[in-house]
Amino acid sequence: MAPSAPVLQLLYFFAVVLPCVFAGLIKLECDKENTGIYGQSSMINCLVKGASDVTIIMVLWKKSEKLLFMFYDGHTTFEDSGFHFAEPNWNQNNMNVSLLVKNTQIADAGQYECEVVSDSGEDKKQPDLQVRAIYSKQVMSSLPEKDIKENMEVTLFCNASGGYPAGSIHWFDEYGTNWTKSSELNKVVENDKRVTLLSKFAILQAASTSSKYKCVLYDSNGIKQDEVIHDLPFVPVEPPLEKRMENRNTVAITAVVVVVGSLACGVLVLMLLQRRRSAKNMNYMDPCDIREDLNAKEKMDTAAQV
Ligand SMILES: *[C@@H]1O[C@H](CO)[C@@H](O)[C@H](O)[C@H]1NC(C)=O
Ligand SMILES: *[C@@H]1O[C@H](CO)[C@@H](O)[C@H](O)[C@H]1NC(C)=O
Ligand SMILES: *[C@@H]1O[C@H](CO)[C@@H](O)[C@H](O)[C@H]1NC(C)=O
Repeated sequence: MAPSAPVLQLLYFFAVVLPCVFAGLIKLECDKENTGIYGQSSMINCLVKGASDVTIIMVLWKKSEKLLFMFYDGHTTFEDSGFHFAEPNWNQNNMNVSLLVKNTQIADAGQYECEVVSDSGEDKKQPDLQVRAIYSKQVMSSLPEKDIKENMEVTLFCNASGGYPAGSIHWFDEYGTNWTKSSELNKVVENDKRVTLLSKFAILQAASTSSKYKCVLYDSNGIKQDEVIHDLPFVPVEPPLEKRMENRNTVAITAVVVVVGSLACGVLVLMLLQRRRSAKNMNYMDPCDIREDLNAKEKMDTAAQV
């Protein structure tokens, strides 16, 4: 015999409506995706909603079953000094129960759990925290370091450190040709879980007509972070033969001019000195009349002798 309609209604009330009234008055709403930056403070946003004049009795913040801190009976007990309420002066009537992670590490990424018990019911959520670390600017180097000659084999390096999650490095020449397939990327995981990228690209025949190579850094989402250009240091190019001959002739002419010029100068200086010395021997000095004075002096000398 099937149960009558009033009995079904009663069953529905006890099975569905009643539990909701008692347990589900408050609702904990947390941002599903929360992103933190390595070395900075991060937040997991959680808000208690669904009822007014709520007094919170207990808050538990956990990560992988490990208690981070707990508010209960008016006191907050911290198990790990790196985790706090995001609200600086949080109290039991503040519905913002967000978590603040200080000096975020890569290891802080993962699933958290927040549980709230209040005088109007309880709820819990499991929000995630993702952590990113920004790569340092790429450093480039070549082997050989300098004096690269035409058709020589050259290895280029492009390194970036301190990023997370692991990114990638792509290579292009100055005409935009993508050489990434000819390169080799090594990802080294450091102690703090950040990743150093070491990329190596071998140029089989270096050419001075295409000496610039670009190293482009992408983050784990394939978004371009930065690019650096390396100009291969070729040995200075020797000018063609005719040019060199021309240069040699110019040098010879210059030498002749210099020698002749120096000689002329020397003669002039000697002449001037001569004039000075002659002028010193006279009482009256008039550079314009030196010749006449000399003649006069000679005459006087002759007269004296006579
Ligand atoms: C919770 O508090 C933090 C810190 O004051 C604030 O940044 C955040 O926006 C608040 N969240 C909401 C949902 O109001
Ligand atoms: C990049 O890393 C490679 C491999 O460890 C190294 O040989 C090269 O010198 C590094 N380059 C720079 C500029 O640090
Ligand atoms: C360059 O080549 C790499 C490897 O084949 C590829 O993943 C990347 O998308 C290419 N980049 C561009 C801009 O074409």
